[in-house]
Amino acid sequence: MSANTETVKPSFPDKLKSFHNWAGVDDNTLNDGQKLAVKYFMGAVILFIFQILFGLQFIAPGFLYDILDFSVNRMVHINAMILWMLYGFIGCTYWLLEDESGTEIAGLKFGILGFWVLSAAITVVVLVYLFIQTGAGNDTTLWLINEGREYIEAPRWADIGIVVVMLIFFYNVVMTFSQGQWSGIAGVLTLDLVALAGLYVAGMFYMTNITHEQFWWWWWVIHLWVEATWEVLVDVIMAWSLMTILGVSRRIVTTWLYIEVALMFGSGILGLGHHYFWIGTPEYWLTIGGFFSALEPIPLVAMVVHAVYDSGERGFKNMNHPAMAWLIAHAFGNFFGAGVWGFMHTLPQINLYTHGTQWSASHGHLAFFGAYATINIAFFYIAIQHWRGNVWMGADSINSWRWKWALALLNIGVLGMTIALLIAGYEQSFIERAIGGSTWAGYFAAQTHPSFMTAMHWRMLFGLVTASGLGLLVWDLLTIGKGETRKAEVIAQSE
Ligand code: HEM
Ligand code: HEM
Ligand SMILES: [Fe+2]
Repeated sequence: MSANTETVKPSFPDKLKSFHNWAGVDDNTLNDGQKLAVKYFMGAVILFIFQILFGLQFIAPGFLYDILDFSVNRMVHINAMILWMLYGFIGCTYWLLEDESGTEIAGLKFGILGFWVLSAAITVVVLVYLFIQTGAGNDTTLWLINEGREYIEAPRWADIGIVVVMLIFFYNVVMTFSQGQWSGIAGVLTLDLVALAGLYVAGMFYMTNITHEQFWWWWWVIHLWVEATWEVLVDVIMAWSLMTILGVSRRIVTTWLYIEVALMFGSGILGLGHHYFWIGTPEYWLTIGGFFSALEPIPLVAMVVHAVYDSGERGFKNMNHPAMAWLIAHAFGNFFGAGVWGFMHTLPQINLYTHGTQWSASHGHLAFFGAYATINIAFFYIAIQHWRGNVWMGADSINSWRWKWALALLNIGVLGMTIALLIAGYEQSFIERAIGGSTWAGYFAAQTHPSFMTAMHWRMLFGLVTASGLGLLVWDLLTIGKGETRKAEVIAQSE
């Protein structure tokens, strides 16, 4: 440290710089869009930690359980998940924006402002959730405390803020591409963001009839997001990542992208019928939902073929081993979590027995983790590699055991939880529904059965494995690439 900084109180930007220096990061390697992306990635990791912390609610009485209501813990757990994934996706988009458009980001200042507004709003919303756990549900609470819509419970004032931030984000994307150049990836991305932001607005209205409410709003946001717009978004990210770390040609990834988008929207939109089976909608939804959602796994198979074929073509030679490993985890996780685990209970004949059991939680965990946590983590590694000055990140780099163990623990943890929950769900469908005829007595018989209780213990154990994997991942993200002097391209080519 120079004598200068000892006498003069460092300003905030200087402090930030010294933090970057401490982290061993050369800021000059990043363009403005990427610097903004790094903020979003940091926010995402912090929210990811919160998600898992609140998932571990029942680890011991007095930890969170018994202090906060289950409903509050659960709400923070799943809302933090949706938010950290959105932060990650926004970050990925800002990251590739300048490279893909060939020009500077259009509204950087607004973008930065948007980040801080969003983060401040989230902090206030969560504090309110934690301090006001129970109370009436009326217009005032709808505006100020909680909208009561699973997965996106933010009160309406925050909803409006979120929409404004999304508009800023959308403006930045469209204007930057317009000032620079458009590409197939840019076009798909922009159209998808229209759908993504538009559907969020659908979750802000309120109707008094709960069937109407669920029909129009709830599942439009959650289902159409995760099974259509988010899937397309991760496709864009996957296409761009494969070009970056594997060197696949733009022509090939863009062709795949178009095929997958067509399949995704073709099956995903009417596939939302599997949430219309038992909410009081007309019976034809059983047929429509059953048929179209059974087609939904097809694009997911295409994505696996895409990723594995492209990497196999290049003998798995690539510039960033942790990112590549997580991309492969994404291809399989998406296929199994969404495609196979979703398909298992999507036919109405089966869903009659599985609806509302741990079966849903089993699928929900594997799908969100497999499809969206994985690809965000892959992108964190892509960003960090660049941030550290494009150093080599391979199986033989310094402390590579950390990313390998984080990869193993997180994947084994979530898979273990998924299987435990599936066993519990199987038992519930059998004892509560098939034998017990969906009666109260059947419900309690299923909840207290030893096989159910054992399964829940296993879920807890694998939850701890997942949490330790996350701890290791965060440590690795903070340190990987430090002290590495070999450059990525040189090694990838000479290997
Ligand atoms: C990455 C994509 C996906 C994600 C993140 C996802 C996530 C979820 C979640 C969290 C739930 C539980 C909702 C609740 O709280 O009640 C759910 C339910 C369900 N999902 Fe998915 N899903 C995905 C794709 C799919 C696909 C492709 C299918 C069909 C092949 C499918 C079929 C179902 C079914 C049948 C239900 C249960 C409906 C019920 O009984 O209420 N999902 N999904
Ligand atoms: C330490 C690990 C974790 C634990 C202990 C845990 C625990 C829980 C619990 C107790 C619930 C509430 C279930 C209920 O309402 O009956 C839940 C719901 C949920 N969690 Fe986790 N979770 C963990 C990690 C994750 C991860 C990594 C993801 C995805 C990335 C995830 C996604 C979800 C989703 C989507 C739901 C709602 C499922 C539904 O409504 O069916 N969780 N989790
Ligand atoms: Fe769905």
